[in-house]
This record gives sequence, structure tokens and C-alpha cells, in this order.
Amino acid sequence: MRQEVLNWLHTAVPEVRLQHILRVEQMAIALAEAHQLSVVQAQQAALMHDLAKCFAPEKLLAVAAAEEWELDPAEQQVPHLLHAPVGAVVAREQFGITDETVLRAIAAHTLGSPDMDAIGAVVYLADALEPGRGDTPQLHHLRQLSYGDLWKATYETCVFSLQHLLERRRPVHPRTILTHNGLLTICRQSTQSVTA
Ligand SMILES: [Fe+2]
Ligand SMILES: [Fe+2]
Repeated sequence: MRQEVLNWLHTAVPEVRLQHILRVEQMAIALAEAHQLSVVQAQQAALMHDLAKCFAPEKLLAVAAAEEWELDPAEQQVPHLLHAPVGAVVAREQFGITDETVLRAIAAHTLGSPDMDAIGAVVYLADALEPGRGDTPQLHHLRQLSYGDLWKATYETCVFSLQHLLERRRPVHPRTILTHNGLLTICRQSTQSVTA
């Protein structure tokens, strides 16, 4: 299965993207091990997270129409945002993936999701923090945090992404805000249960 996906990726994405995907795969495996999660689910979702990364906007919109998704104006303006949920469709159609946890993690890797599960958090973190993303003190801190406190790291990474968009005056998808609020609730609940 892994080799089949790699062969497909070789024809669908440039080498530099493939290297990113392989680093995401490695980090997702390491995070799954650190947090006693399914390594198989983390590896599969990470390897397939960017299947649709290089699809043309028309192709992304065509898949969205075929799947009858209701699009947010941000997705209509920036169809590239659809590469995550379209990637899940490719994983299902092309590679027969039926594991909903894996499909949801692929679909939510860019914007997150207010109800994402731990495998979703692992893939979201690995995509944002893999070593190729740079070596600033902030990224270094987030990487360290991701191995210690999964949900705090996911929340802080969501804030980091949000800041990045706002600083560049880019549109923010409403789901990013919902993800932020959902993660904040999870973090507050876990802090309360620690201090209770
Ligand atoms: Fe992506
Ligand atoms: Fe990615």
C-alpha cells in the first residue's frame, strides 16, 4: 500500500512536495508513538494528507461539486483550501481507504476541525511543524510541546497559523475560528481536571 501511494505521488507532486510528505509521515509516526496512538492510522493519514495538493483549482471545485459540498466563500475564493478534503476523496477512491479516522485526519489537516480527534491532531501538527517548516524559536517550542502535550500544542499551533494569516492580511476560513474555539475548550477542560 505505501509503495503504491508513493508511486502515485511521484506522478502527482514535485519532488520538493514529496520530501515534505515524507517528513510529515516521519513526524506523525513519532508523535503517535509518543502519545500511544495508532501508528498505522497516523502513518496512512500523513502519507496521504497532500494527495490533492497540486490539483488545479477547477479540479478541486469539480470534486467539491461532485461530492455536493456546500462551500464557504473562503473556499470559493481560494479553492486550494479544498486540497485537504479532496485528498480524503482521493484516498477513498484511489486507494480504497475506508477508515473514517484516517479520512477525517486528511480532510482536516489544513483548517483543523472543532471536533478533531487525536489522530487528526497528530497529522495537523506534523504538517505544520515538520522540520522543513523552518527553525525559528517559536517552531522549536511548538515541536517540543507537541511531544509533551498534544492538545495544548494543537491549540498553540492553531494560534500560530491564525497569526500568520492575520499578519499577511489573508482571509481566515470560519472553520479555523471554530477549530481555535474547540481546542481552547479542550485545553481549559484538561487544565481544570489537572487543578481540580
Ligand atoms: Fe496540505
Ligand atoms: Fe502538507
